[in-house]
Amino acid sequence: MRLNTVACFLFGILYVANINSQNDISGSREIIQKQVDSLLGIMTIEEKVGQMNLYSGFWDATGPAPSEGNAQLKYKHIEQGLVGGMLNVRGVRQVKAIQKIAVENTRLGIPLIFGYDVIHGLKTISPIPLAESASWDLDVIETSARIAAIEASAFGINWTFAPMVDVGRDPRWGRVMEGAGEDPYLASKIATARVRGFQGNDLSAPNTVAATAKHFAAYGFAEAGKEYNSADISQSTLYNVVFPPFRAAVKSDVKTLMNSFNELNGEPVTASKFLQRDILKEKWNFGGFVVSDWASINELISWGLAKDKKEAAMYAAKAGSDMDMEGYVYVSELAELVKNGVVSEQLIDNAVSRILKVKFELGLFENPYKYCSIENQKNTISLNSKFQDSVLEIAKKSIVLLKNETKLLPLKKEGQKIALIGALANDKNSPLGSWRLAADDNSSVSVLEGMQAYTKNILVYEKGVDLTIGKTHFVKELNINTSDRTGINEAIDLAKESDVVVMVLGEHGFQSGEARSRTNIDLPGLQQELLERVFEVNENIVLVLNNGRPLAIPWAAKHIPAIVEAWQLGSQAGNAIAKVLYGDYNPSGKLPMTFPRNVGQIPIYYNYKNTGRPSNTEDNVFWSHYSDIENTPLYPFGHGLSYTTFKYSNLRLDKNEVKIGNSITVKVDLTNTGEYDGKEVVQLYIRDLYAQNVRPVKELKGFELVSLQKGESKTIEFTLDKSELGYYDNNGVFVVEPGEFKIFIGGSSITSLETSFKLLAE
Ligand code: NOJ
Repeated sequence: MRLNTVACFLFGILYVANINSQNDISGSREIIQKQVDSLLGIMTIEEKVGQMNLYSGFWDATGPAPSEGNAQLKYKHIEQGLVGGMLNVRGVRQVKAIQKIAVENTRLGIPLIFGYDVIHGLKTISPIPLAESASWDLDVIETSARIAAIEASAFGINWTFAPMVDVGRDPRWGRVMEGAGEDPYLASKIATARVRGFQGNDLSAPNTVAATAKHFAAYGFAEAGKEYNSADISQSTLYNVVFPPFRAAVKSDVKTLMNSFNELNGEPVTASKFLQRDILKEKWNFGGFVVSDWASINELISWGLAKDKKEAAMYAAKAGSDMDMEGYVYVSELAELVKNGVVSEQLIDNAVSRILKVKFELGLFENPYKYCSIENQKNTISLNSKFQDSVLEIAKKSIVLLKNETKLLPLKKEGQKIALIGALANDKNSPLGSWRLAADDNSSVSVLEGMQAYTKNILVYEKGVDLTIGKTHFVKELNINTSDRTGINEAIDLAKESDVVVMVLGEHGFQSGEARSRTNIDLPGLQQELLERVFEVNENIVLVLNNGRPLAIPWAAKHIPAIVEAWQLGSQAGNAIAKVLYGDYNPSGKLPMTFPRNVGQIPIYYNYKNTGRPSNTEDNVFWSHYSDIENTPLYPFGHGLSYTTFKYSNLRLDKNEVKIGNSITVKVDLTNTGEYDGKEVVQLYIRDLYAQNVRPVKELKGFELVSLQKGESKTIEFTLDKSELGYYDNNGVFVVEPGEFKIFIGGSSITSLETSFKLLAE
C-alpha cells in the first residue's frame, strides 16, 4: 500500500471510530489533536509548508493537465503535496478533480480545503450584508448564511471567506456593503449569527462550511475611505470598536480569520504579531488558522517592511499568518528559512496543526469528497424556490423607510396611474450587488417586474437616463453616464400625466465592494438632474434608493416626500420592493450606518465622543461645529419608519443604584398607535457619564425586534450587567468604573426616553 492510501485509511478510520465512540466535544477535540500530531510526525518540512499554501483556481481541472506556465506550476505543486487549499474552484466536477490529485497522487493524501467568497449567497442571492444588517433580525441573518452554506457546500465548497466583520464608519469605503455597519455591538451580534449560519452546529455535516471572520484588523478604518490604505487609530478605538465583532466570531468558534491589506499604526497587518499571536491566538485563545488576504504577504515588500520575498515570508510566518493566499511566498521560501534556522519548525508545526485541525473538523479525512455529489449539486442549486421565498423574506426585512411625509406610501392598489422611472428600475443585474461570483447575471427580479404583479393600477415605465454606459461586469472602472440625456423628456411626460411617480435611483451594483471607493457619495451621473426635473412636474415622488453604502442626498431628503432605502436586495429585490411600496409588508428596517449630509461630515457616526465644547452655550462660534452645515446627520444610525406609529412610554428600572457585578433591569412599554400591524426595533443605549477614558455620547447595548398588531402594547425588558457597562482601557484591560449612567430607549439613536442610575463599587 502506498503511504498516501495508508495515511488516508488510517486517519479516516481513526476519525470515524473515535468520533462515533465519543460524542463529547472536548473529547473529540483531543482525538483530533492526536490525529493532527501523528500526521505532523510523518510530514517533511516541504509537506508542512505545502499545507500553508493556498492557490486560486487555474484551469479546467476536468480536462488534461496544463502543460505550461502558472497553471502547470500549481498543478505540479498539488501533485507534490505542496498545496493545502484552493480558492475560486467552481463546482463539484472541478473540486473533485483537484481533490483527487491531492488525495491519490501525493505521498500522504492530505485532502485540500476549498474556499470561495460566498458573501451573500452563491446562486440564490440574499441582500448585500449591509442591507441584511438593516433588518436587525438575527434569525433571518443566520438563515441567509445557512442558505449560502447549503448552496456553497453543494457546489463543492467547504470554506467561505465570510463574514466580513469590519466595523465601518466611512461610507466612501466601497466595502461597507460587505459588513454590518458602524456599531460594534450590532456588528458583534450579526457576526455571531453569520458564523452560526455558515458553520451550523456540526461542521462535519456535509452542508456546513467553515467561516472566515475578516479582515483582522482595522481594514474598515482605511484612511479617507480609500481602499488598501493605512489605518491609524487609537488603542481605545481598536479595543472598543474594531475588536468586538472579531471577538464575538471567535467566541462563536469561527474556524478561520483573514488578515487584511492595511497597515495599522505603522505595522502592516499581515506582519502583526500583536494582532495575530498576542491578541488572537493567545489572549482570545483562537484555535483555528489565519489566512492571509490575496498576496498580502508579498505586499510587505511594497509597504517597505520586507526587502524581498524571503523576508516577507519570514515576517508573516513569525507574526502568525498561517496560510499564504495566492502569494507563492511560503511555498518558495519557508522550507529554506526553517532549514537555515531563521524560522523555527515549531512555529510551522503550530500553523500546520491549526490547518489540519480544521480539515479534520470538516470531516475531510473521513471523506475528502463529501462535498462532491453531482446529484446534490443539481438538486440543491436550481434557483430553488424554497430559498427564493426565504431571500424574499430577508429582502423585505432589509428595507428601510427613510421618509414618508405626506403618507404617499403605501401606494393605493388600484385606480392609480404610476410612472416608474430610472434605469435601475428595469435592472435585473445591479440588485445582485457586488460579491456574487457564482450568481447568474440578470437573475434578480427587477422593480419593474415586481410592480407589474400589481395589475389593478396603470404602470408605465421610462428609464429617464442610463446610469452606466457599456460593460459593467469585470471592468476596471465603471463608465458612469454623465452626458447622454436621451429619455429625460419622455420620463417627464410620463410623470406629468401620472398620479404617483416611483423613481428608482442610486448606485450600480459594482459601484461598491472591493476597490470601489468613492469621494462623492451622491446620486451618480445624471440621476440628480433627472430627479429634480421630474419633481418640477410632479411632486408626488417615491424615491427608491439602490445603493451599497450610505448616500448623501440632502436635496432629496428636503424635497421628496417619500424615500425608501432598498440597497441591493439580491435575487428577489423587485418583489420585496413592490411588496413594501404596496403595503403588503410594513417596513421595519433600521439604518446600521449613519447617512451624512455631505462628504465633509465623514466620518460621522452616532457613538462619537462629546468634545470639550459640544454646544454653543456662550452663543459664540467657539464650539465644535462646522460653519456651513449642521452637526447632525441626514439620517441617524438606527433610523427607520413604519407605516404605523409606535409610542414609547413608562421607561423604568428595577433599581436606581446597582453594585458592579449585579445586573439592572430596564423596562419600557411600546404601543402600536397607528393603523397597521407592524414591527419595531426597540433600541437601548447607554452613556457612561464620568470615566477615565472619554466615553461616547451613546452606545447601543441592547435591541429587540418586536411585532405589534395595531392598538397592541407590549412591555420590553432588557438586562444590563458588567459586560455592557464597562469598556477597554488603552492597555486592552476591561474596566468597569463606578459612577452615573444614562439609559436611552427609542426607535433610533435619536431616542425618545431617558433615565439614569448609579453604578456602585463592588
Ligand atoms: C481580497 C479580499 O480582500 C478578500 O476579502 C477576499 O476574500 C479575497 N480577495 C479572496 O477573493
